[in-house]
Amino acid sequence: MSSGSLKKEAWEALRKAVMYHRGKPIGTIAATTLDPLEDALNYNQVFMRDFFSAGISFLVAGEPEMVKNFLLMAVQLQGNEKQVDCFTLGEGVMPASFKVTVDPATKHETVEADFGEAAIARVAPVDSGFWWIVLLRAYTHSTGDHSVANSPQCQLGIIRCLNLCLKDGFDTFPTLLCADGCSMIDRRMGIYGYPLDIQSLFYMALRCGKELLRREGDVTEFVDRIDKRLHALTFHMRQYFWLDHKQLNNIYRYKTEEYSFTAVNKFNIMPDSLPDWVFDFMPNKGGYMVGNVSPAFMDFRWFTIGNFLAITSSLATPQQSQAIMDLVEARWDEIIGEMPVKCAYPALEGEEWRIITGCDPKNTRWSYHNGGSWPVFLWFLTAAAIKAGRPQIARRAVEVAERRLYEDDWPEYYDGKLGRTIGKQARKLQTWSISGYLLSKLLLEDPSQVTMLCMDEDKRCRTNPLAKSSSYSGGGGSCDKGCRPTMVPGHAHSVHSPSCPLSNPNIRNNSEGGYCGL
Ligand code: GLC
Repeated sequence: MSSGSLKKEAWEALRKAVMYHRGKPIGTIAATTLDPLEDALNYNQVFMRDFFSAGISFLVAGEPEMVKNFLLMAVQLQGNEKQVDCFTLGEGVMPASFKVTVDPATKHETVEADFGEAAIARVAPVDSGFWWIVLLRAYTHSTGDHSVANSPQCQLGIIRCLNLCLKDGFDTFPTLLCADGCSMIDRRMGIYGYPLDIQSLFYMALRCGKELLRREGDVTEFVDRIDKRLHALTFHMRQYFWLDHKQLNNIYRYKTEEYSFTAVNKFNIMPDSLPDWVFDFMPNKGGYMVGNVSPAFMDFRWFTIGNFLAITSSLATPQQSQAIMDLVEARWDEIIGEMPVKCAYPALEGEEWRIITGCDPKNTRWSYHNGGSWPVFLWFLTAAAIKAGRPQIARRAVEVAERRLYEDDWPEYYDGKLGRTIGKQARKLQTWSISGYLLSKLLLEDPSQVTMLCMDEDKRCRTNPLAKSSSYSGGGGSCDKGCRPTMVPGHAHSVHSPSCPLSNPNIRNNSEGGYCGL
């Protein structure tokens, strides 16, 4: 089938997934497969995360009505009281999914939301509210209609959602602490701690929230809090989540048990914890953000959502963004293979799989979230590739996907190292497989549409950890004098070593970076 007809088929299939409430479209259900067993699961519901790519596709097509209805429905549901057993969830939590139920006698429709209280393993959807804020910003950009974002319920919705994440606690890091199964990977997969996918999305939501909030009264103070967190988060992610060949070598030779502020190995990562595969996976040119960083723990796995959103949102520096795209090219078989794109790389196997997933039969090696390939990730790749100025990478991946997707009936995911087999338990006619493909096509046809998803670089945070790295081939933005700026008590930003010329505050403030203006 030609690529043009495939796009037409995708639109038709997507429209069949639309859910209505009182005659108005309010979102798309997760899968339209006609299987009586499906009802026992929740694929007949509108998932917040699943709707995102469908929503953006409708915005690109100039049909914003459903997106507006969805945004208003979600914020209304946020106001519901939500409980898991006797425990009440925070007031800003957004549902993972919702559905419309009809009373057969009265024909009265009600909308029922699931905040995790019905979900398998009672997982909390930390990502839902973030997706909502990012979609709200995209809607506002695309339509020029500020009335939705400016409405009192949406302004409050943004504040409630972000306030949950900005509360003071015991944290020593600006990253967001999460339980396992809190995002697209909604099963136990060893992502507890500070998972990259959530950090990138958190960053994006903070940026969008900051942009959408009207500076009035107490809100100005709230926006300042957002701003401070953004700075600290940017610094932390760029500095400590970044891995390329040079940094890998540094970790390999790390000293451990370093006490005090001068520690290089700040999180006390043991070189012995480096897995063998990472030495083969890491190309000479290229790099990526690792899956998780916390005390004495670095999850070296590649996670697709987090890396591509880091590019789209400018959480990654321009140099890091290029390096991530370099890595995708260098590790094409591992990340793209015969069906784009791997959820995570590599798969957990054997004893590791038993311990980390709890023997999950759905997440066996190279399946589902555990190294399975998901067509929905095509749009993440496409947006990132366009932002990085390398759309040809996305074009190549879309061509790969086009060979199978329609013929296979738009499966939810594929299994195997190369993604050659339709997923063991994959739904057919999975809506976000359809919209992920469609959105990629739409963005490649009109790359200017990507601006509703992208953010410019926040120039105030100029640390460039790549300056002396193997993936960096020039450009400004860092301390190139051989010193490593570190955070020191009493200083609001990282400080250069006394011997470094940039430690002179007059130079530093005007210099080409090397410090993060926290
Ligand atoms: C699965 C996925 C989840 C998705 C849901 C609906 O549970 O893991 O990310 O939102 O299906 O498609």
